[in-house]
Amino acid sequence: MQITYNLKPALERRAEQFNPTINVGFGNLRTDHMFLMDYRDGEWRDPRIVPYGPFEVAPGAIALHYGQSVFEGAKAFQHDDGEIYTFRIDKNAQRLNRSADILCIPALPEQMQIDAINALIDVDRLWFPMQEGACLYIRPFIFATEDRLSVSPSEQYTFCVMLSPSGPYYSDGFDKAIRLLITERFHRAVSGGTGASKAAGNYAASLKAGKAAAEYGAAQVLYLDANNKQIEEVGAMNHFHVLKDGTIVIPKFTDTILKSITSQSILDLGELLGCEVRQETVMLDQFISDIESGEIIEAGGFGTAAVVSPVGSYIFEDNRIVTVGNGGVGEHTKRIYKVLTDIQKGHLKGPEGWVQHVKRVHV
Ligand code: PLP
Ligand code: COI
Repeated sequence: MQITYNLKPALERRAEQFNPTINVGFGNLRTDHMFLMDYRDGEWRDPRIVPYGPFEVAPGAIALHYGQSVFEGAKAFQHDDGEIYTFRIDKNAQRLNRSADILCIPALPEQMQIDAINALIDVDRLWFPMQEGACLYIRPFIFATEDRLSVSPSEQYTFCVMLSPSGPYYSDGFDKAIRLLITERFHRAVSGGTGASKAAGNYAASLKAGKAAAEYGAAQVLYLDANNKQIEEVGAMNHFHVLKDGTIVIPKFTDTILKSITSQSILDLGELLGCEVRQETVMLDQFISDIESGEIIEAGGFGTAAVVSPVGSYIFEDNRIVTVGNGGVGEHTKRIYKVLTDIQKGHLKGPEGWVQHVKRVHV
């Protein structure tokens, strides 16, 4: 893929924004550039890196009306050698195409996606945040640009990659366990729908539930299946729990759950974690009674942005609260977090190919 470059002078805003004592938060900052490529006449064309800035989009663009848009979330980390490494980026590229297929968006070859991401990180590598524990959050997305109001798949798209120098997703970071709202009022997905894709519309549909969660002092909703019997996942992460023998349990991936790359990594890491990791259908009633009997000792969420987020309690809409263990961050959760983040930061060798060096070409 021959990428064209239109670069602005580097380091313009670095002095203001890269103060190690400032909490950069999640997703607030941008780097200087973005990667763009268009789909026209049946092929992806014109790969380019340009200054980050607004798009020109037709008011009738299909993405704006009918939500034909999918995205990914991945991360890159700076290792002790000063170089930048992406984490399981091939899995994100595969999943973008899975999501695209669910929304009738043409696939974008995985290697093209990876080359685009590497080229952009290379150009903006000096934006890697100086804060302890920070990363470059990578947001690739595809949206339908054809200017047409009939409801059928667009024939034109834009693929964009932007980068966000980021800290933790939850403002309390890993130190404080969050609370989740268990509700029968909202559902994220139904079988045969778009739940297994990272479709923009799934997140629009979660906003009302997120507001309800906040009213209960909860960080997010724990979604149940459409019959309110099984635990599915959380708004921006998969769910897990830990049994008293240390076994980690993740709900089975179905077509109503996003197949989390973090969950998949924890499943793959079983041996390094020193415990069994398995997937099964998790029934809500059993889950709650197992917490109350002490059979379940820890719980949390897995996700790229959220990493490993401890859950200390659940609240129902009748205000009943169920506390997991002592409501704090458990030892197993701490271990999972440490193993995963040590691999991401290059402090622990993970399976072959998980971390990929971003080659220096421009900077
Ligand atoms: N589930 C949902 C709905 C998400 O938005 C995310 C975040 O990407 C996840 C799960 C976790 O997936 P991953 O670990 O691949 O980031
Ligand atoms: C991610 O974890 O990368 C996500 O995409 C979650 C996002 C909705 C903040």
